[in-house]
Amino acid sequence: MDANDAFQIHLQKLPPQDEKTFETIYTLGNGHFGIRASNPLQGNNSHFNGQPGMFVNGFYDLTELSYGENYSGYAQNSQTICQLPDPRFIIFEVDGIRSDETPYNVKMVDKNLDMRTGVLMEIFDIESPTNKQFRLTLQSFASHDNSHLFVINYSVSALNFNGALTIIKQHPYINQQIQTHSEDMRAAQRQTVLDRTYLKSKLPIMMISTRKSQLALIIAQQALNDNPMQVSILDDLPSYSKTFDLTQGMAQSFSFAYAISSPHPLLKTTLSQSAFAASVQKRLADKSFKQLLDESAAKIDQFWANSDVELEGDDTMAKGIRFNLFHLYQAAGRNGLTSIPAKGLTGPGYEGHYFWDAEMFMLPFFTYTEPAIARQLLLYRYHTLPQAQHRAREMGVNSGVMFPWRTINGEESSSYYPAGTAQVHINADIAYAVDTYLRVTDDDDFLFNYGYEIIVKTARFWLAYGHWATDKAHKGKFVIDDVTGPDEYTAMVSNNYFTNRMAQNNLHIAVKYSKRLKHNHADKLAELDVTDKEIDEFKLADEGMYLPYDDDLKIKKQDDVSTTKPVWPIKETPRNQFPLLLHFHPMTIYHYQVNKQADTVMTDILFPKNQDLDQLKRDFDYYEAITVHDSSLSRSIFGILAHRLHNADEAYRYFRQTVMMDLTNSQGNTADGVHAANMGSTWLGLIYGFAGLGMENRSFNLSPELPEAWSRLRFRIWFHGRQIEMTITQTEIMVKLLSGDSLQFYLKHKPFTLTKNHLVKEFIK
Ligand code: BGC
Repeated sequence: MDANDAFQIHLQKLPPQDEKTFETIYTLGNGHFGIRASNPLQGNNSHFNGQPGMFVNGFYDLTELSYGENYSGYAQNSQTICQLPDPRFIIFEVDGIRSDETPYNVKMVDKNLDMRTGVLMEIFDIESPTNKQFRLTLQSFASHDNSHLFVINYSVSALNFNGALTIIKQHPYINQQIQTHSEDMRAAQRQTVLDRTYLKSKLPIMMISTRKSQLALIIAQQALNDNPMQVSILDDLPSYSKTFDLTQGMAQSFSFAYAISSPHPLLKTTLSQSAFAASVQKRLADKSFKQLLDESAAKIDQFWANSDVELEGDDTMAKGIRFNLFHLYQAAGRNGLTSIPAKGLTGPGYEGHYFWDAEMFMLPFFTYTEPAIARQLLLYRYHTLPQAQHRAREMGVNSGVMFPWRTINGEESSSYYPAGTAQVHINADIAYAVDTYLRVTDDDDFLFNYGYEIIVKTARFWLAYGHWATDKAHKGKFVIDDVTGPDEYTAMVSNNYFTNRMAQNNLHIAVKYSKRLKHNHADKLAELDVTDKEIDEFKLADEGMYLPYDDDLKIKKQDDVSTTKPVWPIKETPRNQFPLLLHFHPMTIYHYQVNKQADTVMTDILFPKNQDLDQLKRDFDYYEAITVHDSSLSRSIFGILAHRLHNADEAYRYFRQTVMMDLTNSQGNTADGVHAANMGSTWLGLIYGFAGLGMENRSFNLSPELPEAWSRLRFRIWFHGRQIEMTITQTEIMVKLLSGDSLQFYLKHKPFTLTKNHLVKEFIK
C-alpha cells in the first residue's frame, strides 16, 4: 500500500452501510465540535432520512427525568448534548425552485477522508424537480489550529444543462425541539429545547441558547476570499447568495468558514454578537480555504508525529488503527472543561455523556502520546470536584467525593441507579488515570495543584463508603457493600472484585503521594486537612481490603455470591435476543451468571505485576465462558489477556474485532455514534498487548510479541519529558531516544540505558 493510501478512508473500500452509519464514520471534529457528514441539502427537511447535526462539546440542555416513584437522591435532571443545525447546509435554486422548499433528488456518489490533512471530500449528484442535474463536490475540515472553525468548499458543475443556478448560504431554521425517542436506551432518549436568535449584522450570525441549562453559543458564517460574496438580506436573514451561469464542464466553487464560539452561560454572554461577527470577519475575510487548511494540517502532522502507529504486514489493520486514533483525536476536549463523550462528538448516543470510558479506555493513548491533551481531560474532572462533593453528601457519604457515573456538567445524570450511580468504581478509575498520567509524565505541577486533591478526595470516599467487617466470612477485612462493577449484567453486590481492587489502589496511591508531598509540600497536606491519622487509615484499608476468591474453583470471584448463581444458557439463547439488555428485564439477567463485559479480569491488565499465569488462565477461561460482550468495552480486554496467555490466535481475533468495530458497524449501532472507548482500546491492545508496554520501577518495560503476520510495528511515546521511538520486528526490538536526556528502561525486564544517538537493539527470539 502506498504511504498516502494508508491514511485514506475511501467509501468504495468500506462494506455497504446505511446512510446514518456513514454520516458517523465520516464525522469531522476537533475536540470542540463534531459535524456529521450528512446530505447537505437535508436541513430540517423530513423528506430525507439522514441524521444531520453538529455537537459542541459541553453544550447541553437539561432534561427532566421523570420517575413513577421518585426516591430521595435520584438524579433529577439528565443532561443531553444538543444536536445543532448542520453547518454544511446549503440551499440551491434552479428554475425558481428552492431546494429547502421542494426536495431535490440527492445521490451520494463518493466520500474520502484524508487523515493526513483532515479533509473530507464528498461528491453528491443532485437533480432539481425540473430535471436539471448537477454535481456538488464538497471539501471540508474541522480546524485543528483554531478549534472554533469549520471550513467548507462547495464546488458545483452542471451535468446536463447550461444555465443559471443560485446558491444560498444562510443558517438553517432550527426545530425548537429536537424530538428523540428510542426503544434502545443506548440511543438518544430526550429532547433538548433550543431557541435561536438571528442577528442583524454584516454576517449571517445567530445565537443558539438552551431553555433549561441556559447556555448560549454564537455561530457566524464568513465567505472566504476564494470567491468573495456579499451578504444580502433574504427572508429577513442575512445570507450569502449568488447566481452562477453554469456551463457544462466548468465548475464554480466557493468557500466559507463557520465560526462556533465556546458555550457561555446565557446571562453572561459578554461577547456581544456583533463583536464576535466583527472579529470573525477581521480574522477570516482575507483568508482562503487553502491557507486555513495549511494551518490546520500542520497541527495534524504534529499529531501523527507523536501518535502514529506504523504497522507493516497487515494493511487493513494498519488503516483501521489510524482511523480509530484519528477519531480519538477529533473527539478529545482540549479546554480543561470538557472530556470525551462515549460516542465522541459523532452522534447523539448515550446523550453525549462522559463515562469511565474516557479515563480507563481512552486516556492511556493521550497520556503516552499527547500528554498535553491528557492533562486537559483530567483537569475536566478536577473542575467538577465541587459537584462530586455535593453528590457524596446527597448520598449520605460524609467525606470525600463521589464522581457521577454519567454526566456532562459534573452532576449525576443517570436515571437507572443500579447500572449508574452504583458504579462507584468510577472514583477509583479517575484516580488510577491521574496516577498513570503522573507516572508517565512526572508532571509535578499537576500533582501539586490538581492531581493530589483528586486522589485524596476519592480515597476518602472509600473510607466512608466501605467498612471493617465483623461477620465471620469477612472478619477483620475492609469490605465495600452495595455497588455495581463494570459488568452491568450484575448489580448491587457486595465486594465486587474490580471495585475493591481499584479502591485498594486508590487508597494506596493516596498514601504514596501523601508521603511524597509531606517532605517538601506539607502545606498542601494542611490545605486539604490530610493528617497522619488519615494517612494511616488509608494504609490500613489498603492492606486490609477484601478481595473475593472462590477456593473450590480457584478463581478470583466477581463478588461475594457470583459463583453460586446458575449460568445463563448463552448457547441456547437465539442470536436475535442479544444484546440481552434489550430483551430481558434487568432482574432476570441479574439472576444468572452472565457478564455483559470484562469485569474481574480487567484488573489483571491494570495491575500486571506479579501475575501467576496459571491463575490468570483459570480466571480467563471462567469469565470468557460467561461473557457475552454486549458492551463494546469488553473484547479488547479479553484480547490483551489472551495475548498474555500466549494464545496468539485468540488475541488476534479479539484485536481485529475491536479495530474494525465502527468501520464494519459490527455492533449494529454506529449510526448513533462511534464507540470511542473501543477505539481507545485498539491502542491498548497494540501497546499494552502486542508491544507489552508497562511500567517498571520509575521507568517502563517492553516485552513485545507480534502476531505472525506482522513484520514491523513502530510507535512513539513520551515518557518523563523524553520522546522515544520503538521499532519491533519478529526478531528484534530497537529503541531510540528522539528528544530529552538519557534514561534507564527495561526490555523483557532487563535494564538498559537509552542515550541520544545510540540505538538500543536487542534480539527477542
Ligand atoms: C457499558 C459501560 C459504558 C457505557 C458507555 C455501557 O454499555 O456497559 O461500561 O461505560 O456503555 O460506553
